[in-house]
Amino acid sequence: MIVTVQQHIAHQQDSIYPGASGTFSWLLSGITLATKMIQARIRSAGLLDVAGAAGATNVQGEVQQKLDVYANEALLHCLGVRDTVAILVSEENEEPVAFDRAPETGKYIVIFDPLDGSSNIDVNVSVGTIFSIFLRPEKASSVRHAAALQKGAQQVAAGYVVYGSSTMFVYTAGRGVFGFTLDPNIGAFVLSHDKMRMPDQGQYYSVNEANAPNFPAPYQSYLGQLRDGSLGRTYSSRYIGSLVADFHRTLLKGGVFLYPPTKSHSSGKLRLLYEANPLAFLAEQAGGLATDGSRRILDIQPEGIHQRTPLVIGSRVEMEAFDRVMRSESH
Ligand code: AHG
Ligand code: MN
Ligand code: MN
Repeated sequence: MIVTVQQHIAHQQDSIYPGASGTFSWLLSGITLATKMIQARIRSAGLLDVAGAAGATNVQGEVQQKLDVYANEALLHCLGVRDTVAILVSEENEEPVAFDRAPETGKYIVIFDPLDGSSNIDVNVSVGTIFSIFLRPEKASSVRHAAALQKGAQQVAAGYVVYGSSTMFVYTAGRGVFGFTLDPNIGAFVLSHDKMRMPDQGQYYSVNEANAPNFPAPYQSYLGQLRDGSLGRTYSSRYIGSLVADFHRTLLKGGVFLYPPTKSHSSGKLRLLYEANPLAFLAEQAGGLATDGSRRILDIQPEGIHQRTPLVIGSRVEMEAFDRVMRSESH
């Protein structure tokens, strides 16, 4: 039986907000439409370059756009025309984009990383789009940013699309994690992974080993435990360099992904609002955990819309072991 993401969201919405007016599913349809446009452009990126090689333009006469600019424009457009959107925050926009909408219609704030892992595009490696959705706070905030600076625990929904060997849409609205695979023949995301659960323990750890010599000592000890069998199994290392792809594997297979503080990024490289928060919501909904090394990601009060954070995210056994090491070694 085919269940599309629209049907699933509408059903979820009825159970979340009985009698809701369909605004939530209308909002999410903006994201699914934009990501279908993005995936179409990604799948033909090489061709566009070849076509573009004839001059500065491609066969459609468009100026060749970098994919993350295109992805950003697609999301800003598809979401901007939905009147339920009050504010958009994007990795690619220094300032939030606010729409002058009455609070009773403009209810949602959508925060996104339009193209995650963009350095991998040119070598045909999986990339993704990540999104995080909040309700606009009741009290009108004097600072426009303030409305977007909510703790991750306040998210009403979060998810990502991974443009991999297949294109998958994975989301949670606080009642479990659901995965949909794009069926190119009908152009719809179809339910393929119902109620996704992260295994209690996995067999992969995922970290950029090149930065390891500069990780704080507790991280070094923890990596030692993963390598020497202290957690009761030998681990293999997998690092794709696209957060969405590394997380998607961790969600399906278990294990742990780490982006610790490094020499060049002392507070970590990944962004709290549009990378760590949405994935932390998904991880917890699937039975996993996510911290910045000492605090639960979803409890962190953001100070700025582009602030960075260390991120350690994965299944229960690996995360409890990490917590033990951090407690015993950090004082
Ligand atoms: P983005 O392409 O949105 O800037 O994100 C890239 C991030 C993330 O996808 C990945 O986990 C990380 O950069 C990889 O960083 P390193 O190359 O430093 O390991
Ligand atoms: Mn990113
Ligand atoms: Mn990005």
